[in-house]
Amino acid sequence: MNDQPSTSSFDGGIASAPLLDVRGLSLAFATADGELPVTRDVTFSVHPGERVGIVGESGCGKTVTGLAILRLLPQQSTRLTGEIRFEGQDLAKLPARRMREVRGRDIAMIFQEPMSALDPVFTVGEQISEAYRTHNRVSRREARERAIAALADVGIPAPARRYDEYPHQLSGGMRQRVMIAMALICEPKLLIADEPTTALDVTIQAQIIDLLRALSERTGTALIFITHDLGVVAEICTRLITMYAGEVVEDAPVDPALIRPRHPYTSGLLRSLPGLAQRRAHLPSIPGRVPSPLAMPAGCRFRSRCPQAMDGCERPQPLLPVAPERVARCWRAPELTLPGAVS
Ligand SMILES: Nc1ncnc2c1ncn2[C@@H]1O[C@H](COP(=O)(O)OP(=O)(O)OP(=O)(O)O)[C@@H](O)[C@H]1O
Ligand code: SF4
Ligand SMILES: [Mg+2]
Repeated sequence: MNDQPSTSSFDGGIASAPLLDVRGLSLAFATADGELPVTRDVTFSVHPGERVGIVGESGCGKTVTGLAILRLLPQQSTRLTGEIRFEGQDLAKLPARRMREVRGRDIAMIFQEPMSALDPVFTVGEQISEAYRTHNRVSRREARERAIAALADVGIPAPARRYDEYPHQLSGGMRQRVMIAMALICEPKLLIADEPTTALDVTIQAQIIDLLRALSERTGTALIFITHDLGVVAEICTRLITMYAGEVVEDAPVDPALIRPRHPYTSGLLRSLPGLAQRRAHLPSIPGRVPSPLAMPAGCRFRSRCPQAMDGCERPQPLLPVAPERVARCWRAPELTLPGAVS
């Protein structure tokens, strides 16, 4: 067991300046019941070519963080504080017109349900071509050729024929490939994938994950992979970020995090994981529920569910360095030896 990063791509990423540097991002929504704070002080960075997995149970703030980076949250009802620096410029302050240029060209996002992002009345080829032409001055013919090449890149057979098909004519797996082709056609520096395989069957899931990893390795596109599934993170990512109740609670290179998590919540998630953990007759899960944003406890937000809780945990917990390139939001992290996925 050690805490040293072991993947070469991670080492390579750290040597460079961060591509994305999120600092103290807090998000709150205006609702009929008043302001709902949903993330607090979210801080992390992504280096060029890095593949970062963001995990956490439902409602922990993964999607809103991804949407905030792309400024896709409803402007009227969202209060955003903190910085979202992308190549040095703060996206949170960028004029809407400049932000539209960044979206798609520099940062793209894919979602769980591709149908929500595809327009049923246009062919998939037209939609990919259009995504390309939004950011590149090319003729329709060139865009078509580029789109067909993109369809081939994501493993769609007979791409020239598929170009002229409508979304409903494709299977779920093929539609997700189309989404990936559309997201990657402008060769963005960062792709945010929010549970892109959850709606697919297991075989197709594995294919899409392999595809994303291969494309990211080949093109150098950095990836933020939002998921419930630590198994996928283990397979595809170089870095693991755990979110709990709207906060980052652990941030670490993947391999040491899987072997020896430093936050009790990451450890709980890993121990609930079928496949990675040694198979047990009874699979443990974390008892209890994520607290509601309306009733967030003071001090450590994981306290009511944490087997390691003790006096002192009722104090606010900052993110503390626990090892080289590792932070955890738990004052006990340096002294705890927690089970991971590999024992
Ligand atoms: N537009 C909105 N208005 C009000 N609250 C919202 C809005 N969008 C999200 N929320 C709330 O923000 C919190 C974080 O939601 P988010 O969708 O980011 O969670 P998540 O970690 O992605 O969960 P899941 O794993 O289920 O996708 C939740 O409490 C959710 O109810
Ligand atoms: S601060 Fe305390 S309650 Fe929170 S994770 Fe650490 S040990 Fe558990
Ligand atoms: Mg989500």
